[in-house]
Amino acid sequence: MPEGDRVKVAVIGVGIGHAHLNGYSKCKDAEIAAVCDVDEARAHKVASEFGVKEIYTDYHELLRRDDIQGISVCLPNFLHAPIAIDCFNAKKAVLCEKPLATTVAEGERMVQAAKENGCLFMMGFNNRFRGDTQVLKKFIEAGELGDIYYAKTGWLRRAGIPGMGGWFTTKEKSGGGPLIDLGVHVLDMTLYLMGNPKPVSAMGSAYAKFGPGRAEAMGKVYDVEDLASGFVKFDNGATVFVEASWESFTERERIYSELFGTKGGATLDPFRIFKREQGVLVDLTPEYPRVSGHERETWHFVECIREKKTPLATGEHGLDILKILDAIYRSAETGDEVKIS
Ligand SMILES: NC(=O)c1ccc[n+]([C@@H]2O[C@H](COP(=O)([O-])OP(=O)(O)OC[C@H]3O[C@@H](n4cnc5c(N)ncnc54)[C@H](O)[C@@H]3O)[C@@H](O)[C@H]2O)c1
Repeated sequence: MPEGDRVKVAVIGVGIGHAHLNGYSKCKDAEIAAVCDVDEARAHKVASEFGVKEIYTDYHELLRRDDIQGISVCLPNFLHAPIAIDCFNAKKAVLCEKPLATTVAEGERMVQAAKENGCLFMMGFNNRFRGDTQVLKKFIEAGELGDIYYAKTGWLRRAGIPGMGGWFTTKEKSGGGPLIDLGVHVLDMTLYLMGNPKPVSAMGSAYAKFGPGRAEAMGKVYDVEDLASGFVKFDNGATVFVEASWESFTERERIYSELFGTKGGATLDPFRIFKREQGVLVDLTPEYPRVSGHERETWHFVECIREKKTPLATGEHGLDILKILDAIYRSAETGDEVKIS
């Protein structure tokens, strides 16, 4: 393809934005036109790593560039909504990091702005793009698990509170703790495998047993949970249990999903499929490509821009997940089951 035909992309926020740049840098159909970060030194360091010459500290200037088609929004959660909406109003396609936003109302405004501007809106749910997830999805689409009616999923860290006192541990800026930070990933991955049923209600609990004390001793803010669990019901009768922690006395960090269907079950990770064949129980250990979810996610975004495709992970999917997280948090406060509409 001639160089001029490559999709011009930019990344705003160069923390996890680094993984997006890495993905774009390996995509033959993409050209990284610019990076933007308010932290100029960080922006320069990352830009030089990928040979990017155009650096902005004010994203408004970046949005004035007519040649840029796609933007990765890799910012602290509370900035997803205002900056993604500005991107849509500037007619840019957006790949937004998870979670969609800090509140459902903001998330709805984002989805609306994308629609009104006719812009492609993809969510950064990189775990959907992992090799094992993609291979399992093929088995499921071929009917190998039958009707999936229950799943358990979680991301439990033993010790991994991110950025103590920073935006991650400040509810106003993050929207919550490990549930919205890590639970969002595994819940999305699991619901994707289940065919994205519509959530109807959730209940849950949230605990802050370690973060607040440690933060207080350091004179820092910590007003989110450090472990949360939830139970979600869907319109097709399926149910999902989800758990997430930044800190808990678990043996080791675990990121898992376990699916139960009428014809088979499966786990990620490790990737196994459980069936009954010829009257006996059979376990399968499928081979799968060891690809980076971040890399494949950015390639998919570029492909969707070029070929005007609907992305695998849409803003609407991000909104459904956010509604579930919000319902779990509200249930944790009231003790009641919370309806989701
Ligand atoms: N998908 C994943 O695996 C994954 C991993 C980590 C983080 N995330 C998500 O990515 C987002 C960013 O997280 P992070 O860990 O990179 O955070 P971070 O704090 O390390 O990086 C955010 C960057 O945004 C910059 N920034 C802040 N305000 C800005 C503005 N107005 N304009 C331009 N730049 C600005 C900061 O200077 C910083 O460099 C969050 O939503 C987080 O949930 C996703």
